[in-house]
Amino acid sequence: SLIHVILTGGVGSRLWPLSRKSRPKQYLEIFDGKSLFEMTVDRNSHLADKVVVVGNTHNHHLSEKVMNKTNTQYINIVEATPRNTAAAIAFAAFAANPDDILIITPSDHIIEGMDDYDIAIESAVSKAQEGFIVTFGIIPTKPETGYGYIEALGDNVISFREKPNETTAKEFMAKGNFLWNSGMFCFKAGILLEELKKFQPEVYEKSKAVWEANKNGFLDLDLCMLIPSISIDYAVMEHSKKIKVVPASFSWSDLGSFESVYDYLLSGNHPVDAYGNMTIGCEKHTTFLGLQNTIFVYTDTANLILQKENSQDVKDIYSALEKQN
Ligand code: GDD
Ligand code: MG
Repeated sequence: SLIHVILTGGVGSRLWPLSRKSRPKQYLEIFDGKSLFEMTVDRNSHLADKVVVVGNTHNHHLSEKVMNKTNTQYINIVEATPRNTAAAIAFAAFAANPDDILIITPSDHIIEGMDDYDIAIESAVSKAQEGFIVTFGIIPTKPETGYGYIEALGDNVISFREKPNETTAKEFMAKGNFLWNSGMFCFKAGILLEELKKFQPEVYEKSKAVWEANKNGFLDLDLCMLIPSISIDYAVMEHSKKIKVVPASFSWSDLGSFESVYDYLLSGNHPVDAYGNMTIGCEKHTTFLGLQNTIFVYTDTANLILQKENSQDVKDIYSALEKQN
């Protein structure tokens, strides 16, 4: 069968203080009363037979609330602690049959152009049937360092490079045949597990042990802690020879960092001053003096003022604060 796997276990630490453990950004009902999570479910409900939500102890009840509104058949996999996307995807694959096709999506993207989306998914599913691991390639608009890059020749992938530094990202842009990885994937469960076993045997073995000990989808903390924390991009995509790319002609934005939220808000006429300064979450008039491309993030419990270029470093503040508490 065709299974939609929703990854919803990240902390969204690059969006602190907008996103917090108790209130992750994908559950905020900010788009016509819907959350990004619910929009993700809706977008795929006619494409897949069943949903697997891979989340954590802090948010599984939020996912359940949304899933119970739909008639979709679903299971929840509840991680005791996040061990990154390689493990999260492995759990979903262990829960499926080897020949099941999995469509993996994050839960925090804005996607527009539903006909194009459906066409891309259909094309990905047919390549996945042939045994390929399918990525979705977005035409890059700037040398973003927060994404993975796919070096493509037609639908073939020459190389996959996760989160390059700025110099390398600029080289990729100049070459012209590099696409952004959308963070969505499509493959047969069994093929992904074979590749994971080949390139990251420890992640494979430890995740398998965790999955086999699951109680109703709840995973054991001590066993989870033994799994190396690595993303699927570094673990498999950078090494596998079975990757194909489907061009994504739908419009896509990842609201993963303040820079991308800034770009998204800018395209939607959110106010910005003549020097590119922007306020997020605050209705009060705010003046920026002598500053450029500064983002002021205002919430009930904490504020953040950052230079737009430093968006990728917000996760370091989050980690530092977490250690203090
Ligand atoms: N269940 C679970 N457990 N989900 C997780 C975990 C985890 O430990 N870690 C992350 N996730 C979820 C996040 O909530 C998000 O929905 C998705 O997995 C991807 O994780 P991110 O942390 O947002 O990844 P990224 O944005 O740095 O990079 C990925 O996405 C980019 C596009 O948005 C990569 O695939 C890049 O190559 C890609 O360009
Ligand atoms: Mg992301």
